[in-house]
Order: sequence, then C-alpha cells, then structure tokens
Amino acid sequence: MPVQNAMTADFLRSAYGGESMAHMRYLIWGNLAEKEGFKNTGRLFKAIAYAEQVHADNHFKELKVQQGDYTVAAGAVFGIGTIVENLQGAINGELHEIEQMYPVYLNTAKFQEEKGAERSFHFALEAEKVHAILFKQAQDAAKAGNDIQFESVNVCPVCGHTVTDEAPDKCPICGAKKEMYKGF
Ligand SMILES: [Fe+2]
Ligand SMILES: [Fe+2]
Repeated sequence: MPVQNAMTADFLRSAYGGESMAHMRYLIWGNLAEKEGFKNTGRLFKAIAYAEQVHADNHFKELKVQQGDYTVAAGAVFGIGTIVENLQGAINGELHEIEQMYPVYLNTAKFQEEKGAERSFHFALEAEKVHAILFKQAQDAAKAGNDIQFESVNVCPVCGHTVTDEAPDKCPICGAKKEMYKGF
C-alpha cells in the first residue's frame, strides 16, 4: 500500500531529494578521483552513487499515488576540493543520514504504521552505515597518497548494500541473492 500519512510522505520526498543529490555528487567526485589517477576511489564513488539511486528509486515508488508538484527540501553537501576533502564531504553526508535523518524518518514511518516507507528507510539506513566505513577507508588511503585497494565493488540492487570484493551469498540487509549484486 502506498504512503497514507502526510509526515511520512514529506520524509519520503525529502529522502528522495537527498539521495538524488548524493547520487549526482558522487558521480562528480568519482570522475574527479579517476582523473587524478585514483581509479578505485572513482569506482567506489560510482558504485555508491548507484546505491543512492537504489534508495531514491525505493523512496519514489512508495509515493506512487501522490500527485502534484512539490518543493523538496533535503540536506546536501556542496563543493569541489581535494580527494581527501571530497571524501570528507561524503563521510559527513553519510553520517548525517545515519545519525540524524534516517533514524527520525524510520521512527516516524513506524509510528504511522507505514510499512512500505519503513522498509525503504530501513534499507537506506543500513546501507549508509557501510558507505560511511568504505569512504573512511578510501580517505585513510588517500591521506597517505594511495588509492584504496580492492578487486571490485558490488552493490545490492534491492537495498543498496555495498561490499568490496566478493558479494555475500545473501545480502545481510534484504536477503537478496549474490547473483543479483551489480559489480563495479
Ligand atoms: Fe550512502
Ligand atoms: Fe540488499
């Protein structure tokens, strides 16, 4: 059933806006990292950009019978800096989602018994926790002048779970099978 309550609907639109901007921002920063020779950091940005697209897609679909035009307010990080600075921007954005935004949105959806939004916010919250860790690993490497090391990055197309190297047999967040993961 699509969303019924105005407050949860507002939060779905805001989360959709935030994820949409994160998607684009990570593509921009990913291209810059690649140009500077940090190929894996660029791949990580692009893989996580895809994960944010998954989140935006999930939030959007929960609004399927909502009609009309809306002005959408969402938190976003701006600016272009060094790789280390761009990664800090990414970490800050992820931490805002993990510590402030998604816990509030998730609890509102639970309170309003919005099962679809609850699922969508839960998937995003859990995936963002992994994103913050991966961006921190890439930043630690970049601070030492190195590119993060991995063979591949894999993203669950259902919930946005992101893992370096081999995908797990079952997604730890949503249970999707290994074969469904998208590789970068
Ligand atoms: Fe994220
Ligand atoms: Fe998943």
